[in-house]
Amino acid sequence: MGKFNRYLITAALPYANGPVHIGHLAGCYLPADIYVRYLRSKKADVKFVCGTDEHGVPITIKAMKENVSPQDVVDKYHKIIGDSFAAMGISFDIFARTSAPIHHQTSQDFFLKMYNDGLFEEKESEQFFDPEKEMFLADRYIVGTCPNCGNDKAYGDQCERCGRTLSPDELINPHSALSNAPLVKKKTKHWYMPLQNYEPWLKEYIVDGHKEWKNNVYGQCKSWLDSGLQSRAMTRDSNWGIKVPLPDAEGKVLYVWFDAPIGYISATKELTENWADYWCKDDTKLVHFIGKDNIVFHCIIFPAMLKAHGGFVLPDNVPANEFLNIEGEKVSTSRNWAVWVNDYIEDFPDQQDVLRYVLCATAPETKDNDFTWKDFQDRNNNELVAVFGNFVNRAMVLMHKLCGGKVPSLHEAFIEDTDREMLKEFGLAKEKIENSLENYRFREALAEVIEFSRKGNIYLQQNEPWILASVIENLNNGTWNEKHDKYKGKTEEYLRARIDISLHIALQMTANLAIFSHPFLPFTSRKICHLLKVVDRMLEWDNAGSDKLLSVGYSLRAPELLFKKIEDEQVTAQVQKLHAGLKQAQEAAAAAAPPAEETIPAPAKPEIQYDDFAKLDLRVGTILQAEKVAKADKLLKLLVDIGTEQRTVVSGIAMHFTPEDIIGKQVTLVANLAPRKMRGIESQGMILMAEDNGKLIFVNPAEAVKPGSGVS
Ligand code: MF3
Ligand code: ZN
Repeated sequence: MGKFNRYLITAALPYANGPVHIGHLAGCYLPADIYVRYLRSKKADVKFVCGTDEHGVPITIKAMKENVSPQDVVDKYHKIIGDSFAAMGISFDIFARTSAPIHHQTSQDFFLKMYNDGLFEEKESEQFFDPEKEMFLADRYIVGTCPNCGNDKAYGDQCERCGRTLSPDELINPHSALSNAPLVKKKTKHWYMPLQNYEPWLKEYIVDGHKEWKNNVYGQCKSWLDSGLQSRAMTRDSNWGIKVPLPDAEGKVLYVWFDAPIGYISATKELTENWADYWCKDDTKLVHFIGKDNIVFHCIIFPAMLKAHGGFVLPDNVPANEFLNIEGEKVSTSRNWAVWVNDYIEDFPDQQDVLRYVLCATAPETKDNDFTWKDFQDRNNNELVAVFGNFVNRAMVLMHKLCGGKVPSLHEAFIEDTDREMLKEFGLAKEKIENSLENYRFREALAEVIEFSRKGNIYLQQNEPWILASVIENLNNGTWNEKHDKYKGKTEEYLRARIDISLHIALQMTANLAIFSHPFLPFTSRKICHLLKVVDRMLEWDNAGSDKLLSVGYSLRAPELLFKKIEDEQVTAQVQKLHAGLKQAQEAAAAAAPPAEETIPAPAKPEIQYDDFAKLDLRVGTILQAEKVAKADKLLKLLVDIGTEQRTVVSGIAMHFTPEDIIGKQVTLVANLAPRKMRGIESQGMILMAEDNGKLIFVNPAEAVKPGSGVS
């Protein structure tokens, strides 16, 4: 803990325009909760704040689409999101809302202080205005024809057909995505924060001062700072949001990324009258848990705001995670490719810890990672059920069978090396878990918890108290089983003591597992406490590592299983549900789209002659081998059989397919493309791919053909 006397932990305020999915949980809420539960168990002074982000364009658009008011939208989703978090055991001290009066007041005061200190630039500019909806439009809501490829549905920030980044001014025939009306230009005034002025200070604060931040976070900050900051408007034209508190600011609101992070402050105010201790004293450790798309706002813009305003602590760390993909594809809320937390809770009631476990074990801490239902099943069945649950259950069952349901004693005179080694592990495990948690390495910490129970299983296996019990029986009835020869000559006193010792130690381990697992698996940890008949106070971190948590002779409850197996049918049903959701979203989108005959899409590329096409040597090939290219996230090295020969092809598809998935698949190869070196490997051809909204699909014949077959 060192120089810090209190902690303020925040988790990104989710937009109240839809439910949360498991990517949100894995990215920020779960790691934040684990960290906070750990801190609380250390009896640290900690506040954990979150709430919904209820302003900004995403909310107003959702309201327009559903034909309800923005207030209706945020009321609905604040409740759904809050319920999902609560059900998953995310233990916020407060789950506030940015529509709360205290937040409006706090944000306006913040803005005014900066304004009065002369920290804003006032600038007028011309912006696109929708005369029908009577509003200025964000770039995403301006559509027009792409000057590059002729796509007539290009957005004001990007053309999704040719990929070009655009500004609304480049679009031909710009019109509103909301009303379809042609747009006009209108003058508008806004207040800008000259971020460039804070550059030297930010470099000192982050580049020099926080080299310990995670690589992905530090790297992103550094590259923003290296490429230079610019003035950024801190106000917008809208009728939904926090009014700009100035006399000549009719129709202007605070930029949502100005008000949202102030939400952390107002939530703390709502939570406690001592809020200023947490925000204004520099022995507070402020940590923001977020997803990677929020890095610039939490590491650059918000700290600059805090600095500009003055009097606030700055984030000590911003342990942002990367993204969690689902079944090999990017999560997309619009395509409904997501696992929604409220759905999970319905389908797996009382199995919150399984999801918490899997999401922590596969958390995208250093790079994007993949969630699959198969992996979910495997981790549950092979790790939670077979290792953790199995150990606790064996300890409980054997104690009831062989020790009369009470904690047996630890006969000092009969202690052996294996026991001493096992006992040493208590402290070592505590140290490792603690060290990983302090450094935001949650996967590593959780792996250590499982490892501890794995060691417990091995220890029981080596000591085999059930065998010792049957040897005692042999001694008593004068029989002998030659399988037990290694115990020949041992006295009953010795055997009895060894049974007691091994179960005494196994039970003390079980009590430690309750403490160790509590930050990660709070529901399971409670169940263990129930079985052991101990109160929550045992879960204090100070008790971890102790081999005296349960007193000898204390009677314990009957065993109950901590986890249950997940069956193949459950996995299949979930995968089907994902695909059904996707299909439904596609159909809904198609139904909402204008009739197809209305426009003939302009060709994406200039016209060519047959001879141009005939120059291509296209052949069907079969993938024989596939492997990742070292140090290149996106590349796979393939060996493709095209009948007459085998070609090495380097292809940028590693984010979409695993090598195992594609071996044996047929593909279409551009066989006469000039060879090109990539990462030192000569690529002899190119594979054709179709792209559907970010998803890649091989272009191959409808039926398998002989490798080398020509395509024309
Ligand atoms: N609503 C934003 C998002 O979902 C996060 C806001 S975090 C805050 O990406 F700090 F600004 F509140
Ligand atoms: Zn284009």
